[in-house]
Amino acid sequence: MKIVMLGAPGAGKGTQAKMIAAKYQVPHISSGDIFRTNIKNGTELGKKAKEYIDQGLLVPDELTVDLVIDRVSWDDCKNGYILDGFPRTIPQAEALDAALKKSASGLENGTKATLDFAINVDVPDENIVTRMSGRRACLGCGATYHIIYNPSKKGDICEVCGESLVLRDDDKPETVQKRLSVYHDQTQPLIDYYTSQGILKTVDGTQDMNDVFAAIVKILEA
Ligand code: AP5
Ligand code: MG
Repeated sequence: MKIVMLGAPGAGKGTQAKMIAAKYQVPHISSGDIFRTNIKNGTELGKKAKEYIDQGLLVPDELTVDLVIDRVSWDDCKNGYILDGFPRTIPQAEALDAALKKSASGLENGTKATLDFAINVDVPDENIVTRMSGRRACLGCGATYHIIYNPSKKGDICEVCGESLVLRDDDKPETVQKRLSVYHDQTQPLIDYYTSQGILKTVDGTQDMNDVFAAIVKILEA
């Protein structure tokens, strides 16, 4: 099962991707988490990516595409994966399609050369800024909480790995506004892209997170 999560910043892509990954035992691959790990570790990639991320801009395709395409070629992705935050531009989506085609051509007949689903978690812009200001992130393991909707049982500490939770640098209201406008310009066109491939499914992301998850499971198991 190969799934792409689409949706505005803060729509709940990461929250849902983790739940899907746990239920279906496939890896959750978040380009944003990969960048944040690199930033935390002070790598060259992290330094370059931070310049863009802190301004609410997309990291250039040259720094993003090969990284993610390589990640989906790992052995743990044989039975599928959930991509969260990639693709975010039409060239990224085209690069992913090309890589899928290439990897299927070398395998036995019947291996699918396409994604199975693009799940669009739909949340209007008005709801996003409040969600982001209440989000707390773990830079250790990528877990995400919300001070009201999904608080950590351990307060400011991650339930999963015990690291301190932080407000992400790019979750300041002015940066969130910029991320939203970048989303509408550069990422929303992917909705048409995957609609024309016949794999786009939209869920109402304003519901409680367990109801959003139930709606996604229904789609995946239909
Ligand atoms: P990335 O980390 O992907 O950020 P994003 O797309 O802006 O999305 P978020 O992670 O902010 O939100 P989410 O949809 O995962 O929501 P979450 O589940 O946390 O990317 C960061 C940056 O990296 C980008 O801006 C860009 O610069 C760069 N980047 C990454 N990938 C790239 C690419 N492919 N190309 C170029 N640049 C790239 O939920 C949000 C909050 O709401 C949480 O607090 C959560 O607890 C809460 N919540 C979730 N669901 C619900 C619900 N149903 N009800 C109430 N609260 C909820
Ligand atoms: Mg996320």
